[in-house]
Amino acid sequence: MQRLSAIFIVCSLLIAGSSYASSTSKETLEAEKWFRKLSQRREKVAKLRFYIQDILGGPNATIWEVARSDITSLSHTMFGQVRVLDDLITAQPDPNSEKLGRAQGFITSADLRESALAMNLNFVFTAGKYNGSTLCVVGRNPIDAVDRELPVVGGTGVFRMARGFSISNTYSYDPVQNYGVLEYIVYVSYYV
Ligand SMILES: *[C@@H]1O[C@H](CO)[C@@H](O)[C@H](O)[C@H]1NC(C)=O
Ligand SMILES: *[C@@H]1O[C@H](CO)[C@@H](O)[C@H](O)[C@H]1NC(C)=O
Repeated sequence: MQRLSAIFIVCSLLIAGSSYASSTSKETLEAEKWFRKLSQRREKVAKLRFYIQDILGGPNATIWEVARSDITSLSHTMFGQVRVLDDLITAQPDPNSEKLGRAQGFITSADLRESALAMNLNFVFTAGKYNGSTLCVVGRNPIDAVDRELPVVGGTGVFRMARGFSISNTYSYDPVQNYGVLEYIVYVSYYV
C-alpha cells in the first residue's frame, strides 16, 4: 500500500513537472521573454501614496482574528495574536474616494515587550496606474511609532523583482466605530 502511494506520488510529480515544462500559455511565454531581457532593462523608481481602510470592528470588519496563543489575553502586547485582513485601498483618506485595490495578508503580534507586528501583506492593485500588479510587504511594524518603515520585498506584474520600502502612519482612528485609516507611502524600484 505504501509503495503504491509512493509510486502514485512520483507519477503525479512527473505529470505535473512535464506539463509545467511544456506549458506554452501566453503568460508563460511573456514571463520567459521578460526574464531573458532582464539584463537590458533599466531600473525605474516610483513613489506611491495611498490609504488603507482598516475596519477593525462591526459586521463589515475587514480584519479578523484567526489564532491566538495561551498568553495573548494576558499579554499587554497581545503577543501571539494572528489576524487576517482584506482592507480596501483608496486614493484618498475618504473611504468613498477612488478604489485602488485591496491590502491582503496576515499580521502577527510578535513582540513580548512592546506593540509590534510581524507583517505579511500584499497590495493588490485592481485600478489606476498599477492595475493588475501586486506588491509584497513583510517585516516588523512597530505600531506605536508615528512613522513605521517596512521592507517591500517584491511584486508581480509591473512590479516583478521590485524592491523598496514603505513608510506608514495612522491618518485617523475612530475608537467608536473602531475604524482606522492608514496612510502608506511606498518608495519602490522596478524594471522597465
Ligand atoms: C455594512 O455593509 C452593508 C452593505 O454594504 C451596509 O448596508 C451597512 O450599512 C454596513 N454597516 C456598517 C455598520 O457599516
Ligand atoms: C483593471 O484591469 C482589468 C484587467 O485588465 C480590467 O478588466 C479592469 O477594467 C481594470 N480596471 C480599471 C478600474 O481600470
